Amino acid sequence: MILPIIAYGDPVLRKMAKDITPEYPKLDELITNMWETMYNAHGVGLAAPQVGLPIRLFLVDTTPFSDDEDLSKEDQEALKGFKRVFINAKIEEEEGKEWDFNEGCLSIPDIREDVKRKPEITISYLDENFKPQRETYGGLLARVIQHEYDHIQGILFTDKLSSLKKRLLKSRLEKISKGKIAVDYKMRFPNIKKGR
Ligand code: NI
Repeated sequence: MILPIIAYGDPVLRKMAKDITPEYPKLDELITNMWETMYNAHGVGLAAPQVGLPIRLFLVDTTPFSDDEDLSKEDQEALKGFKRVFINAKIEEEEGKEWDFNEGCLSIPDIREDVKRKPEITISYLDENFKPQRETYGGLLARVIQHEYDHIQGILFTDKLSSLKKRLLKSRLEKISKGKIAVDYKMRFPNIKKGR
């Protein structure tokens, strides 16, 4: 089932998400629905707060991204076939010199901006079977994971922009929160006025 994606401005995107246990109700169904929702919107990652749940769960499938001919061979290789569920994730280390890349977000349609992030991360998490994992990722793959991880920390990529950029984007972000935007997937907007 395709779920509506929560748009910029909703408080659920600003919450520090909570850990879950294997007893979390209908978790398998939720994960299945999140995959479907992500693919339908042509995303490479989706976090639970983006479907309205402030829990520490996000999904990443970077395969569609790996065909991009502008990417380095290393990035293409790393992105191809990478599909994971991250539960109760914690980034333990972030290293290296920050680099810029143009990011977007399914909760913030039509806005893309360069965001600075460190190139290498070590992350511990539970997979969909609640088996503990600890891995180190680099390059674009690390960036996709950092972006999704930010969602479970209540952070959006627009928070990382300069104050000038933020001022320039303010009215466009307000329009998104009011649903004044054309988007080809199902969304829920926090500031649509109800009634008259
Ligand atoms: Ni996002």
